Amino acid sequence: MVQSLRVGCLFVDSPSDEQTAAYEWCETTFDDVERCPLSAVEPSAYDVLWWHRDDPSIDGVLSGARGEALSTYVRNGGRLLLTLGAVAAVEPLGFDAVGPDATGWEEIPEPTGPLWKVLYEDHPVTDGFDTLRVHTRGGGVTVPYARYERVAPTAGEVLASTARGGTDVVKQMSVVTWHPGDGHALGIGSAVSFLQPTHDICQGNRQTLISNALTHLGVSEADPLTDYPKDLGAMAQVRDRLSGDTLRPTYHLTSPGNWLNDPNGLIHWNDRYHVFYQYNPTGPFHNTIHWGHAVSDDLVHWEDRPVALSPSPDGPDRDGCWSGCAVDDDGVATILYTGGREKKQLPCIATAADEELTGWVKDPANPIIEETPTEPEVLRTEDWEGEFRDHCVWRDDGVWHQLIGAGIEGGGGAALLYTSENLRDWEYCGPILTGDRDTAGTVWECPELLDFGDHQLLHVSNYEDVVYFLGTYEDGEFSAERRDKLDHGDFYAPQSMWTDSGRILTWGWIPEARDVSAQWDAGWSGAMSLPRELSLADDGGLCQRPAPELTALRGENTHRDELRLDGDRHRLNADSRRFEFRATIRLEDAEAVELSVLESPDRNEYTPIRYTRNSEITVDRATASEDPQATRATHRMRVTPYDSPLSLRVFVDGSIVEVFANERHCLTSRVYPTSDDATGISLSAEDGRATIASVDVWEMESAWDSEPPSK
Ligand code: FRU
Repeated sequence: MVQSLRVGCLFVDSPSDEQTAAYEWCETTFDDVERCPLSAVEPSAYDVLWWHRDDPSIDGVLSGARGEALSTYVRNGGRLLLTLGAVAAVEPLGFDAVGPDATGWEEIPEPTGPLWKVLYEDHPVTDGFDTLRVHTRGGGVTVPYARYERVAPTAGEVLASTARGGTDVVKQMSVVTWHPGDGHALGIGSAVSFLQPTHDICQGNRQTLISNALTHLGVSEADPLTDYPKDLGAMAQVRDRLSGDTLRPTYHLTSPGNWLNDPNGLIHWNDRYHVFYQYNPTGPFHNTIHWGHAVSDDLVHWEDRPVALSPSPDGPDRDGCWSGCAVDDDGVATILYTGGREKKQLPCIATAADEELTGWVKDPANPIIEETPTEPEVLRTEDWEGEFRDHCVWRDDGVWHQLIGAGIEGGGGAALLYTSENLRDWEYCGPILTGDRDTAGTVWECPELLDFGDHQLLHVSNYEDVVYFLGTYEDGEFSAERRDKLDHGDFYAPQSMWTDSGRILTWGWIPEARDVSAQWDAGWSGAMSLPRELSLADDGGLCQRPAPELTALRGENTHRDELRLDGDRHRLNADSRRFEFRATIRLEDAEAVELSVLESPDRNEYTPIRYTRNSEITVDRATASEDPQATRATHRMRVTPYDSPLSLRVFVDGSIVEVFANERHCLTSRVYPTSDDATGISLSAEDGRATIASVDVWEMESAWDSEPPSK
């Protein structure tokens, strides 16, 4: 503890009882503590100013000279700790365009405090805590707070959310750091009140936290990673920090850290492949959605780009920039996406600010469709006035067409069609297809129509699966002839890119299959599938194969021309967590063949991929992990009988198992082995003989530049 720190305790007109209690504690901890009225902030009189404010309203308090003086003090290099209601000062002080959206008094029934992000577990303010979950306030009290809940700070970096009792309340973001000008401000918006008694342990934690915070600010310690996610160097540092996690995929596309869901705005532009994605920069959970961005020249090596699209504090997308697509509007890259604000979700448009697609200019006329349709009535739910989102846009005969996903009141999911001459004025035409609620889901998200010439494919995501319909689309109506799932496992909300060479490449979001707390502890969540090339076979069925470019990542190879299996398990001479397995499997008279991956030598952990005589492929996760937080459910898919012998490609990447059978059927599973040596690969036949021809295992290289970050 730095006893000689000069601390100024701010108050407005006269200190409140809570402020007095905080001041008295501060005096016992630092030997140079003074009360400082806000109207008399003097430059360089203090090492750190602390504004602890139990009044959650900041309205008018900082108007005029008072606000000016404090703002200038910080910008000129001053240090400021803001606690409880004082965190709301960041907006009037001009440190952030967005202040905390959740302020007031709350009853806290259980001990509560910061839930630190794993990226900051070594941050100086966490000194002395050996857990990410630190209770700093005992329960059974009513206390003031100021937090970010539905919106994210635009200039600050979130360091912690909230741990309440044994629950991780990830959406209550309570600790944020800012660097306005040359200064530094730290906000701790809840669970640090002093007046009422609290448990000893909470009291100790609170004192440690506040004295850490004052010391950290007062001695001007460097704040690690605080320009994240705006700064590429910080993004590289974040990626590097997470690189020790063996469960983190390295050749599947991921965000640098925090949260990723749907692929968005996929476009081949100026010879580069752009993948945008639903991204929460504030932590590994779904909230405050931005668009992250990665770019590649060859489809396999990726580079992070700065966050491409952020919610506008005053816009219809204030609460999130949800999924959307990109089109080429006569040479202008243009995106259509869903803006969310309170209970409305409506279409918005933006055009590229530069040829690298680094930034987007939002149309001031957003939202470009202002109401949800009434024919049929769009489903109203607790969350939304109308379940109406996600976009697929194409041009046909000079007319723009747009599909939007929806749910129908009293019915099932629907893909609604609009047309336009200019991408901005849209005319509603009605659903091209509606689904049966019981068999195809209540809401269809992320609809996409793909044209294969004589036939078209419509796929929709119905909260559970990605269902596709193959058939014909004409004059605003889709007639389905076949129906199946694009993938039979952990795969959702896919979107496709039409490359300049006319290929259709599809990526899907591979969500996690472990609970919120496990995702929190990991510091990242979600990955993209490998790019899949879609086409129709001569028999009219859908083909899905990994983009051929992926072979460029193949490294060390283990090959066998043939393996005859007869009862015994054959362990391949290859150990890996990141590999491609390829083989042709003939069952002969066996009942099944099991390929086991991520296998520990004692077989305490292993993930069996079984191909059975009744033409099924299963990924059984009961034995995949000893982690109780990991899902144990089995994934299964049918492969049509003529598929024998089976050509199998399996891509394993940390916690992803992505299976391609006969270049037609896909099944992606998440598994979380805990043992360091769960790296074995073995094959066995059950109840009979089987032949495995042309077995290859390739170690797969990383999609990211593995050079240490420059900063
Ligand atoms: C699908 C989805 C979309 C929405 C987005 C929000 O996963 O729910 O419908 O636009 O994610 O992140």
